[in-house]
Amino acid sequence: MQQPARPRLFRMPVRDLTAGDFAAYASMSSGAFGGSYDPTAPGAPRDFSPGQTPLGIDASSVPGGLDGVLAAGARIRHDRVALGGGVVGCGGIAGLAVHPAHRGDGLFGQLLTAVIARCDAEGLPLSMLYPSNPAIYRRFGYQVVARTESLIVPLVDLQRLRPVPDRRLVPVTEQTMPRLRELYHRLSAHENAMLRREAPLFEEGLPGGGWSALLLEDLSGTAHGYVSWTRLDGGDGVGLEVHEVLGRTRADRIALLRSLGSWSTVTENVRVRLRPEDPLLDALPGGGARPDPGPVPLVMMRVVDTVGALRARPAPPSLTGAVRLVVEDSTVPPGTCRAAGTFVVSAADGRIEAAPEEGEDRVLLGTIRLDIHAASLLLVGGRSLADARRLDLTATADPAAETFLDALLAGPRPGVLDAF
Ligand SMILES: CC(C)(COP(=O)(O)OP(=O)(O)OC[C@H]1O[C@@H](n2cnc3c(N)ncnc32)[C@H](O)[C@@H]1OP(=O)(O)O)[C@@H](O)C(=O)NCCC(=O)NCCS
Repeated sequence: MQQPARPRLFRMPVRDLTAGDFAAYASMSSGAFGGSYDPTAPGAPRDFSPGQTPLGIDASSVPGGLDGVLAAGARIRHDRVALGGGVVGCGGIAGLAVHPAHRGDGLFGQLLTAVIARCDAEGLPLSMLYPSNPAIYRRFGYQVVARTESLIVPLVDLQRLRPVPDRRLVPVTEQTMPRLRELYHRLSAHENAMLRREAPLFEEGLPGGGWSALLLEDLSGTAHGYVSWTRLDGGDGVGLEVHEVLGRTRADRIALLRSLGSWSTVTENVRVRLRPEDPLLDALPGGGARPDPGPVPLVMMRVVDTVGALRARPAPPSLTGAVRLVVEDSTVPPGTCRAAGTFVVSAADGRIEAAPEEGEDRVLLGTIRLDIHAASLLLVGGRSLADARRLDLTATADPAAETFLDALLAGPRPGVLDAF
């Protein structure tokens, strides 16, 4: 039987956290997610890393709460993500936790609403998170848009691959890492939702922690792909955690898979992380790959600023027209962010224009009406209004307007790999 919702406390002030709050935040968050924080340990961090906005609620503002303790906290990472050839700011929600003494009193929703408002205020039209409990975020307009899968690939399959002509492998060192980053930017530019992985959130040097990689180049030294991995102890027959296999062409991906086959003398299998519909699947030679039995990490996203999200991407060059787009958002109080509204969205000369409708008498192809869940699913790209309806989301449209929006947002299904 469903429990009735508990009575909520009155609204708590959410404030910016500073270096002085770091120890309280770190101890609450390590208490929630595991690990420990010892501020006296040598090299222990004393402040939030740059590129993030930390927010929190003081326990002293909650009945019975203590001074110097945080009742709740979260960090907004100022990421940027690729959007079908454009780039858009995206607030990555990290380390969101409520102190165990104050759970069940509605602080989660108050904090998350403030986080969404802050993403908008900081010019981040989208927000992204990796939920451990998707249902609680869905209530605030976040929608599952992608998942990261891993396959266990037997190396016996990869050993049979033939050498690819005009390609050679180069170790990735401090010196060659900038080439890998530059190639990643180019290969992911036309994807949807792939992180740009820029400083200061992503450090410029080698990732460390046993991370290794090889660049694939042609004989003139131009990079065409890379493979990155961490060596595992291989106790369960899986000797390599392969983070990414990215190549410009299918032949490049085959060349990279072949290099993985060279590990067959020391291990039987590798675990390979994949995006949804990853082109690597089309380069795997054998049928022996099987899904990793581990949990499938989900990615949820939310539109925070509809105009900002639409204008960030280019339009298909041949597409012209204009539609009325109505986005309804009952998950946060009106005015929290700029997702909801009635907008005119047009495309011409490869560009998208979007603005709140202001009574202009433009010829429109029709009206599209989306709830916040459908808007969050669709505006990240690569999905159709029919996909949204299959998920039982509100996505209604005049037929010509639907064809237009589907064409405007067509592209690869969103995929996120969170690091090199
Ligand atoms: C998850 C967490 C943030 C919820 O915070 P909270 O302030 O206790 O949540 P609220 O009181 O606002 O409750 C929000 C709703 O989520 C539900 N909920 C809370 N925790 C839940 C859980 N673990 N599983 C399922 N539902 C949960 C509540 O029942 C409530 O529903 P209701 O409105 O129908 O009563 C908190 O329990 C926590 O910090 N957990 C450890 C860290 C964590 O999991 N962070 C999220 C990482 S993605």
